Amino acid sequence: MSSLSQNIFLELAVRMGQESISRRLILQIDHSATLYGKGYGHVHLENLESFTRFVGTVLKLSGMAERGKNNSLAFRTEEHAITLPELPDAFDGFKILHLSDIHIDGFIDNGVALISLVKSLKYDLCVLTGDYRFLTHNTYEDCSLGMELLLENIHCPHGIYAILGNHDFIEQVPSLEKAGAQVLLNENALIEKEGEQLFIAGVDDPHFYGSHDLERALQSRPDKTTTILLSHSPELFAEAAKSEVDLYLCGHTHGGQICLPGEVPLITHAACPRSMTAGHWEYNQMIGYTSRGAGCSGVTARFNCPPEVTIHTLRKANPEHSTGGGA
Ligand SMILES: [Fe+2]
Repeated sequence: MSSLSQNIFLELAVRMGQESISRRLILQIDHSATLYGKGYGHVHLENLESFTRFVGTVLKLSGMAERGKNNSLAFRTEEHAITLPELPDAFDGFKILHLSDIHIDGFIDNGVALISLVKSLKYDLCVLTGDYRFLTHNTYEDCSLGMELLLENIHCPHGIYAILGNHDFIEQVPSLEKAGAQVLLNENALIEKEGEQLFIAGVDDPHFYGSHDLERALQSRPDKTTTILLSHSPELFAEAAKSEVDLYLCGHTHGGQICLPGEVPLITHAACPRSMTAGHWEYNQMIGYTSRGAGCSGVTARFNCPPEVTIHTLRKANPEHSTGGGA
């Protein structure tokens, strides 16, 4: 299954946690035949090739396949303002580029349009919330090459942080890191600016692999530090809010990808309230944002749900106003 040396696996196990990496590796090995994971999702339609073939055939027969493909490159840049009550002054106006569900080897233009868009944007930090590969199984070489090219074109002073999704294998971590992303495998990092700090934590995929470990990801968090959590899917919302996460960034749902007019999704693949499956949401004191994704999975087509590149702008709460966010 793997081209990685035993030493690299041992290093990844120390970082991620023995139990989590074991769960992930067992499922990766079983994966081609596995339709049911150990995570929050129950049925994984993206793994049912007959289902995606059916959708592809319907689009072809109805003459809509070409339009769906063109739509898959019609990116929308979402500007999302997030007001956080305890944000340090140094981070007021801090911009985060959020890319999710890139599925880079599925792009009909090899990612050229996405790269060109990303190059035109200005941001302080970049986060990638998983799903770099088109398929959930098979080889990942094309994906790694595509991600290397994309990452080469992401420039920001505070770095690139990434997590894995349900389409990714742990074997992709070294190439992502070599290309400049720091993958958070139930790990965390401190972002420092003018002597002040933000805490960023990332969990492994909770949807299919169930290899997330939130407690481990949040360990060593300094008291009262504004906390951003990266999770592939929104499905850890309750646990995260209980653990005093301030901002929860995720993807996975693609916002439905193929939607009815009004962006009404047919399928979202996530065990969470419908309100959390696209865009801004709130749960108790926590603000969340679910990206509609930059790429496509299953079938390269989008309808009524443009591919998304997101710029989050952090704002310090004005004590005279209530907290919240929005576009
Ligand atoms: Fe995805």
